[in-house]
Amino acid sequence: MSVAPRAGNGKITVPDILNRKSSPGAVPTEGNRKITCLTAYDYPTARLLDDAGVDILLVGDSLGMVVLGYENTLPVTVDEMVHHVRAVRRGARRALVVADMPYGSFHVSLDESVANAVRFVKEGGAEAVKIEGGEKRMELIMRLVEAEIPVMGHVGLTPQSVNALGGFKVQGKTFEAAQQLIRDARAVEAAGAFSIVLESVPRELAVQLTEQLRIPTIGIGAGPECDGQVLVFHDLVGLTFGSVPKFARQYANLTETISRAVSEYCEDVRSGRFPSDAESYHLPAEMREQLLVRLRR
Ligand code: KIV
Repeated sequence: MSVAPRAGNGKITVPDILNRKSSPGAVPTEGNRKITCLTAYDYPTARLLDDAGVDILLVGDSLGMVVLGYENTLPVTVDEMVHHVRAVRRGARRALVVADMPYGSFHVSLDESVANAVRFVKEGGAEAVKIEGGEKRMELIMRLVEAEIPVMGHVGLTPQSVNALGGFKVQGKTFEAAQQLIRDARAVEAAGAFSIVLESVPRELAVQLTEQLRIPTIGIGAGPECDGQVLVFHDLVGLTFGSVPKFARQYANLTETISRAVSEYCEDVRSGRFPSDAESYHLPAEMREQLLVRLRR
């Protein structure tokens, strides 16, 4: 579980992510390349994404919808999240592992919220936590930073507020809403977060935020100017059911690939084509003879 974040061994650390903040108009170099972030919920995915060079593995509470089959992210518990964070941690060598704090885990007292965050670090091996919300979360973010837990903020469409927001909708579309979003993002930065996710906000607003904030912005449905991008892995590989948002570009269709493979397997089993002789174990020749003789008696 321990991957010591020693400078120079290629391990991505929180200061590395902070250093990837791009200055306006900067020519992309090795040092300020855009940050890549994807969700991961299990060991094999973590290994694949880490080997592919993804910078941040986010164990998002989207786990609830994508992997556990809940209708939204609200039912996800700390225990469920810790279980998956541990699996991802085991698969990650280079990437920074960030654990999403699920609904209810930081809507309690500050002490309890910090204790929940500590579980992600101590039991899960997370290197940072993500917290949804802006101004309202300032005090908590400060407390977590004080407790040596790096925090990734998350503003705009915050799925844990689905009931209050009335659905999964683009945020910051009115003047007042845009002003509030700017206040929220600034509050998250002032409280000490090392990066901030901007979800489903107009591109023009994300440009302003990316220019104004000193911490990297990581966009999901927030346009290309953010300092980095995050997507739900299952959307990227075409493994989600139901509708996906327009920003979720699909790079593969694993639903089709898996369905085809499983149908072929079922046909082969039913027709006797699987397993073949080569896929079966055999007794040594002399024992085969002895066994046959004995069975015939
Ligand atoms: O839970 C999650 O996967 C997220 C990302 C979409 C940012 O919060």
